[in-house]
Parts: sequence; C-alpha cells; structure tokens
Amino acid sequence: MSKIFYPAQEKYISSFRKEQDDLINEMEAFAKDHNVPILSWQSAEFIEQLVLMTNPRRVLEIGTAIAYTTIRVARNLKKKSVVHTIELSEENIEMAKEYIGQSGVGDIIKLIEGNALSVMPRLKKKYDLIFLDADKEDYKRLFDYSMVLLKRGGVIVIDNLLWQGYAAASKVPSKYKESTKHIREFNKIFIEQPNLRTTILPIGDGIGLGVKA
Ligand SMILES: C[S@@+](CC[C@H](N)C(=O)[O-])C[C@H]1O[C@@H](n2cnc3c(N)ncnc32)[C@H](O)[C@@H]1O
Repeated sequence: MSKIFYPAQEKYISSFRKEQDDLINEMEAFAKDHNVPILSWQSAEFIEQLVLMTNPRRVLEIGTAIAYTTIRVARNLKKKSVVHTIELSEENIEMAKEYIGQSGVGDIIKLIEGNALSVMPRLKKKYDLIFLDADKEDYKRLFDYSMVLLKRGGVIVIDNLLWQGYAAASKVPSKYKESTKHIREFNKIFIEQPNLRTTILPIGDGIGLGVKA
C-alpha cells in the first residue's frame, strides 16, 4: 500500500488499470514473490506515455532489475530506436536476460553488465531519454553522469523521489533515516539543477521529471 496517496484514492486509480500481457503479469508476480523492487505500474504507464510523446531514438536506463520497465519502454519505441540498460546484480541480470529473451523486443535492448558508476563515464553517445532507478546513495553521482549523457531537449526520469512518503514526513523510522537523507539532499540538487526544467510528480513512489534546456 502506498504511503503517498490516501488508500481510497489509490484504490480508485487502480480501478482504471489497463490489462497487461502475460509476460508483464508474470514479471510483476516474480518481483513480488522474490522481493525485487520494480517500478510501480502507474510510473511504468507514465514512462510509456513519455516514450509515445517524445519518440526517443536512444534510451538509457540505470538499474535494470529484471527488465520490467526496459521491456515496457522497448515495446513502445519506434523503429531503429534502442534501449541501453545497466545492471550490477548478477542475480537480476540472469532474470533480466530470461525475460528480455521472451519479450519480442530483445533485438533493440542492450543489457550492460556492471556498476553504472564505472560504465557511464565510458559511454560516448548521448541519449534522448534517461531513466535513473538505482541505489539512492549513488543518485547524485549517477545524476551528474546522466546530465552529461542527456541531449539538449532530452528528458530525464528519476524514481523514488517521494520515497514512500518519507521525503516529506516529519517523523521517519530509523530504518529509513539514512536513505531519506539521501533522497532529500538529492531532491534539492535535482530541483535546482540550472539547465533542467524539473518537477516532482506524485506518481508511484514519486517521479522526478526533467527536460534539459
Ligand atoms: C529499483 S531497481 C530497478 C527497477 C527497474 N528500473 C524497473 O523499472 O523495474 C534498482 C536496480 O538497480 C541496480 N543498481 C543499483 N545501483 C546500481 C549501480 N550503481 N549500477 C548498476 N545497477 C545498479 C540494483 O541491483 C537493482 O536491480
């Protein structure tokens, strides 16, 4: 249950959820059963809409997990577009490969294995859309690399900026104190980034949306 919406609102929004195909349903069930954090379905639908609106040729995702959003994005891209996605967990890489193989869009997905902090400085070509969804303590550095790799006019999407409601909460449980501190510090940097038009949207766990000027 979300700590960002009132339960009645969440239930109401969920009542409009569109049906997904078997693979997407299976991936959601796998993530739930195995405690793999994947993007909320609301945020995934939002990113799909962004893809349809902006028609990006090159997409970069930082933090693949099991390739849930990777596949949803890839399925909405136009011809000759590509998704590059970076993941460091061997376990998640194995599942991501399995699901990408079943997705029907594997030919336009490139899974880059390794730590994004060392992979990103080696990437040369810029991207039209970047989706940052990795460990929160690394957000600042990954964001800096993303800004270098984002084309002018490009869009960046960042997940978890409301951090289960704790980013704006007056009382934060000790288990979440450190991560909440990281998110709060990051949100200031994100919002004040000079060459980015930014907003934080209450979708899923809080989506940061930025357009590079
Ligand atoms: C929240 S999950 C990603 C969910 C995925 N983007 C989706 O939409 O379903 C975060 C993932 O980022 C990976 N990760 C965290 N820090 C990373 C880093 N520095 N480089 C590459 N992957 C990283 C984790 O192993 C984890 O699989």
